[in-house]
Amino acid sequence: MILVTGAAGFIGANFVLDWLTVNDEPVVNLDKLTYAGNQQNLTRLEDDRRHVFVQGDIGDSVLIERLLAEHRPRAIINFAAESHVDRSIHGPEDFIQTNVLGTFRLLEAVRAYWAGLSDSEQTAFRFLHVSTDEVYGTLMPDAPAFSETNPYQPNSPYSASKAASDHLVRAWHHTYGLPILTTNCSNNYGPYQFPEKLIPLVINNALQGKPLPIYGDGQQVRDWLYVADHCSAIRRVLEEGAPGEVYNIGGWNEMPNIRIVRTICALLDELRPNVAGPYSRLITYVKDRPGHDRRYAIDARKIERELGWKPAETFESGIRKTVQWYLNNAEWVTNVTSGAYREWVGKQYGRCKGVA
Ligand code: NAD
Ligand code: TYD
Repeated sequence: MILVTGAAGFIGANFVLDWLTVNDEPVVNLDKLTYAGNQQNLTRLEDDRRHVFVQGDIGDSVLIERLLAEHRPRAIINFAAESHVDRSIHGPEDFIQTNVLGTFRLLEAVRAYWAGLSDSEQTAFRFLHVSTDEVYGTLMPDAPAFSETNPYQPNSPYSASKAASDHLVRAWHHTYGLPILTTNCSNNYGPYQFPEKLIPLVINNALQGKPLPIYGDGQQVRDWLYVADHCSAIRRVLEEGAPGEVYNIGGWNEMPNIRIVRTICALLDELRPNVAGPYSRLITYVKDRPGHDRRYAIDARKIERELGWKPAETFESGIRKTVQWYLNNAEWVTNVTSGAYREWVGKQYGRCKGVA
C-alpha cells in the first residue's frame, strides 16, 4: 500500500480518486484537515475499503511512526503543505511549521522506518515529494523556461518554505540514501480546488455577481496544468523515476492572468448566461500582491524524454471541464466557502469594495 499525505486537499484528493480508479493498491490518507482539507472531496470513497483516512499532522512523529509500523507502505507521496501565497504573506508561520518542520519530521520518521526494511524492500521503497515551480523564482519575459538545473530563488514565504523542504528531501537522499523523488509542478486547476486560488475564485465570484479581482496589471504569466495531468505525472514518476532525481511537470501552457479570467468569463457567458450582461463586466483591477512573481514557465522535456509523460489535456478542454465541474457542484462550493472562508476574503480583499 501507499501512504499519501495531504490528500483531503485539492491535488491530493484528485490523486487518490484517480489512483483508486486506475489500480487497486490501497491508500492510507493522512491529512490534518486545515481550512484547505475537506473530507467532502473524498465522499466517493466513503464505502471503499481500499482507502483509510487518518486525521493527523505530518509533524507528529509518534503518529507517523505508528502509521508506518501498522501499514508498512512501499511508498509515501507527500502533498501535505500550506499552499497559498497570499496567506503566506499575511501569516508565514504555519508555512514554516508544516512545509519545513513537518517535512523534516516526516523524513526522520520515514528514515527510521526505511532503515528497518529488508534490502529488497529498501531498494523498492520511494518517498515522492510534491513541490512547485515557484521555488525557481521569477522569469523575465523572454527567458527560457525553468529546467531542473535552474538555481532556487524563491521570493514568497510560501515558495521559500517549499524550497527549504526540497533541500531537506535532497539532503536525506544524499546523506542517508533515502530513495526520494521530487516533482516541481506549475499551477494546477481543476475540480476540488479551494476558491482562494485564482481560477475557482473567479468562477465563484462571477456566479455571485461579485468583482473579479485582478492583481496589478494582470499580465503576470503562469503555466497552467489540469490537475489530472499532474496526477498522471506523479504516478509515472513514482513507478519509473530514478531515486534522487527531480522532475519538472508543466502543461506547456503559459498565459497571462487576465487572459485566464477572460476565458472563464466567456465560458460562463456560454454555459450560464446572465441577464445583467457579460461576466467580463465584473473584472476589477486591485492593488498588486507584494513581491508578485512576474512569470513562471516549466520546461517539461526531461519527464517527457526519460519517462514518456505528456499532458493529455489542452487548456481549452481542461478549463471547460473545470468551469462545468464548478457549475455542477454548487453545493460543494457553498459548503467550503462558509465561515472561515468569509473571514479570509474579508482580510485579503477588504480594501477592494464589493469583493469581500
Ligand atoms: P491544498 O492547500 O489544497 O491542500 C493541502 C492539504 O494538506 C490540505 O488537505 C491540508 O489539510 C493538508 N495539510 C496541511 N498541513 C498539514 C499537516 N501539517 N499535516 C497533514 N496535512 C496537512 O494544496 P494543493 O493545491 O492540493 O497542493 C498540494 C501540494 O502540491 C502542496 O505541497 C503544494 O505545494 C504542491 N503544489 C501545488 C500546486 C497548485 O497549483 N495547487 C502546484 C504545484 C505544487
Ligand atoms: P494563485 O492561484 O494564488 O497561484 P500562485 O500565486 O501560486 O501562482 O494566483 C495565480 C495568479 O493569479 C497569480 O499571479 C496571482 C493572481 N491572482 C489575482 O490576480 N487575483 C486573485 O484574486 C488571486 C487569488 C490571484
